[in-house]
Amino acid sequence: MSEIKITDLSFAYKDQPNRLILKDINIEVEHGEFVCLLGPSGCGKSTFLRLLAGLEDPTGGTLEMNGKPLKGSSLDRSVVFQDYGLFPWMTAGENIMLALQQKYPKKPKKELKEVALNMMKEVGLDKSVFKKLPKALSGGMKQRCAIARSLSIDPPILLMDEPFGALDAVTRAKLQDLLISLWNHEEEKKTVFFVTHDVDESMLLANRILVFGQSPSNIIYDKKIPEDLKITRETIFENSKILELRNELINHINRDVADHTTIGQNG
Ligand SMILES: Nc1ncnc2c1ncn2[C@@H]1O[C@H](COP(=O)(O)OP(=O)(O)OP(=O)(O)O)[C@@H](O)[C@H]1O
Ligand SMILES: [Mg+2]
Repeated sequence: MSEIKITDLSFAYKDQPNRLILKDINIEVEHGEFVCLLGPSGCGKSTFLRLLAGLEDPTGGTLEMNGKPLKGSSLDRSVVFQDYGLFPWMTAGENIMLALQQKYPKKPKKELKEVALNMMKEVGLDKSVFKKLPKALSGGMKQRCAIARSLSIDPPILLMDEPFGALDAVTRAKLQDLLISLWNHEEEKKTVFFVTHDVDESMLLANRILVFGQSPSNIIYDKKIPEDLKITRETIFENSKILELRNELINHINRDVADHTTIGQNG
């Protein structure tokens, strides 16, 4: 049985019920897949993650998790929001601790603080950041704080919305590696949904890539990456099969944009 099964899903926000953002989405995802989502700005990628997080309900169709309709949010599905989603009145440390205390209510605070500080270190945040309010942090620091919060509770399903968008290239590469190692080497593999606008990042991380078309959006391309391709930062521009895949992906994205540009120009 697939971990996630989405059938004929459509979605409109309640304030504009006649404007479908997502339409006719059908997909099954197995446990342990690392799925990257690409697609033009405004097509509904964040909306799709909000549905997976249980923060919105489908307007039509069904969204099932392990054979049951997905209802409401859960600590099994942790989200790194595009706007970080930190509570502004809590320090960075308190934001992370809140998630940890919800997940492990019986564990002593001291032990959880240790977990929080370790995860902050993993994402490259100095321990002095623990006591700082989000407003005193740079965008990249806030983003890493949100990532630390999400990873610290070790959820089986990770929903990440452009999580490395505000980071410099070196930090980004480090966190990509951290994420791959967490996904790969855990005894229990995680299922990851990861939104990015960066085709190379998607190829480096994912074992399955979905491209969403223009709104009302559905999945216009669904590609499982063959395991033997072994995509790394080095091979991505050297191996002809990988380059072929990269071109295929870029062509799909560009063709969709071109198709919609033509429609727009003609009326
Ligand atoms: N809370 C909301 N209420 C009403 N409309 C919304 C809401 N959030 C998003 N939208 C609309 O839904 C559409 C899809 O937005 P969404 O944020 O999912 O796109 P996206 O693919 O994540 O874009 P980007 O790549 O720029 O982050 C947009 O037209 C947006 O204006
Ligand atoms: Mg978005």
